[in-house]
Amino acid sequence: MDPNASGLAMRLAEAGQSHLLQFWKELSPEEQAELTLDLQGMDFQEINGFFKKAMETSGSSKQEKMDSRMEPVPREVLGSVTRDTASLKDWEIAGLHCISQSKVAALLLAGGQGTRLGVSYPKGMYDVGLPSHKTLFQIQAERILKLQQLAEQKHKIKCCIPWYIMTSGRTMESTKDYFSQHNYFGLDKNNIIFFQQGMLPAMDYQGKIILENKGKLSMAPDGNGGLYRALGNQGIIDDMERRGIENIHVYCVDNILVKVADPSFIGFCVKKGAECGAKVVEKTNPTEAVGVVCKVDGRYQVVEYSEITLATAEKRSADGRLMFNAGNVANHFFSFSFLRDVVQKYEPKLQHHVAQKKIPYVDAKGQLIKPNKPNGIKMEKFVFDIFQFAKTFVVYEVLREDEFSPLKNADSQDAKDTPTTARHALMSLHHRWVLNAGAHFIDENGRHVPAIPSLKDGTDLPIKCEISPLVSYGGEGLEELVKGREFHPTLMIDGTGVHELVKNGV
Ligand code: UD1
Repeated sequence: MDPNASGLAMRLAEAGQSHLLQFWKELSPEEQAELTLDLQGMDFQEINGFFKKAMETSGSSKQEKMDSRMEPVPREVLGSVTRDTASLKDWEIAGLHCISQSKVAALLLAGGQGTRLGVSYPKGMYDVGLPSHKTLFQIQAERILKLQQLAEQKHKIKCCIPWYIMTSGRTMESTKDYFSQHNYFGLDKNNIIFFQQGMLPAMDYQGKIILENKGKLSMAPDGNGGLYRALGNQGIIDDMERRGIENIHVYCVDNILVKVADPSFIGFCVKKGAECGAKVVEKTNPTEAVGVVCKVDGRYQVVEYSEITLATAEKRSADGRLMFNAGNVANHFFSFSFLRDVVQKYEPKLQHHVAQKKIPYVDAKGQLIKPNKPNGIKMEKFVFDIFQFAKTFVVYEVLREDEFSPLKNADSQDAKDTPTTARHALMSLHHRWVLNAGAHFIDENGRHVPAIPSLKDGTDLPIKCEISPLVSYGGEGLEELVKGREFHPTLMIDGTGVHELVKNGV
C-alpha cells in the first residue's frame, strides 16, 4: 500500500525518519510489503525518545562521574561457598524444598546474537567438543531434569521446574525446532516456555534509523534487559503466577558450568528474605570482561566492563585484591513478587545503554557501506538494571572453577572464553568430582595421574572425563559408581554406566 495513502509517510515525517522510504520506488512489491510491515509495527516517537535519553546518559565524562560514586558490596549482604561452609547445607536443603514444591523456575536469556562467537545459529546449540558432543542447551536441560529428580527423591513428591527460554526474532524458530527435534531432552514440553524479546533499530549519531539495505532497517535485540517488557507483553508473568512460581533463577546461555536453578543459591536468597540476588565470582584481572556488582549512589548495580574506567577497575583494597571484585556471572535470583513489580512498575524507568558500533548501511546513493569506525549506536537494556529497585538484595560468591566458564569467542590463540576453555573447565570439574568420590586416573603407563596436572611438561590439558548431568547435578551420587576404582581417560559416566572410551591408548 502506498505509504502516503496509509499515513505511514506522515508518521515518518513527524518523527524525522522519512529517509527510510527514500528507495521506496526501487523496491519490488514484496520488498515494499515487508518494509511496510516492519515500519507499521514501530513506535517512532518512543524510539526517538529512547535515543534522546540514551545519548544524554552516555559519554565518557558521565562514566568518570559514575566511577566516583561506586562502592564495593558490603560484607553483610554477602554469602560465600568458601567462607560460609557451615550454612551451605541448610541453604541447599531450603532450595531443594522450594524446588520440590514446584515453586522455582529457571529463566534462560538466549536472545543474544552470538556475534563474538561468530555462529549463525543460537549459541545454546553450540557443541564445544565434549566426548558426548552435548550442546549447551542439552547440558542445561539435563541439569534441570536431574534436579527435579533429586527434589522428588528427597521429598517424595512429584515436582517440576518450569524452564522459560527467552529468544529473539532471530533465534526463536531455530531454538524451538531444535528442542522439538530432540524431544525436549526428556523434559515435559509443557514446562518449557519459549518467548520472544523485542528488537530496536540501530541509529546514527543524529538519531536517524539506519537502513541495512534499501528496503530493510538495521535491527538488533533490545538487550537482555528486554526481558522485563517481554515478560509482560508475552503473558509470561501471568504464566508464572498461574503455576505458583515464587522464585526465579535467571541466567545466561553461555556458561557451560551453570548450575541451573541452583538449590544452594535459591535457598540462600530465600533464607535471607531477598527480593533479588546476584551470583558472583572473584574478579582478579582488572580487564576481564565481566561486570562488577557494586553500589552506585547507595543502590545496587552492575557496572559493566564496557562502562568502568580502567583506573577504577584497577583499584585495590588493602589486602591486595581488586576493590571491585564481585564479578557478575549473570546468574540472578528474583522473588516472583519483585519480578512482577519490575514488569508492572519499574521497567519503563530503565534506560538504554549505548554501544557504539560499526553498522553497515546504505548511503544516499544506495551503495552498501561497511564502515571501519563506529558510525552509530545500538541501544540495549541490561538484565541487572533493576537491582536498584530491590528492597533486599544479596550477593552469593562461588568458585570460578566450579561454576563459571562462559563461551564468548571462537577458538584462536590467546582468545579467552572459547570452546576449548569451556570444554576444559567442564572436564576439569568432572575430574575433581571423580577424585572426590574416591577414584583416580592412571596414564597409559599405568602411573597415577597427579591430581594437579604439571605445567612443566606441557600437559596442562585436563583429564578427559565427562559425567552426564543425568547422573550427577553437582558431584553427588558418584561414590557408589567409582569409589576405589582406577580409570584410564577418556572416562564417561552416563545413564548407561561407567565407560572408559580409550583404554591403554587403543
Ligand atoms: C554478560 C553480563 C556481564 C557478565 C558476563 C558474564 C549483561 C548485560 N552483561 O556480559 O555483566 O559479567 O555476561 O559472562 O548481562 N542476551 C539476550 N538478549 C540480548 C542480548 C543478550 O538474551 O539482546 C543474552 C545472551 O543470549 C546471553 C546473555 O544475554 O545469554 C549475555 O549476553 P552477552 O552479550 O554474552 O553478555 P556479555 O557482554 O558477555
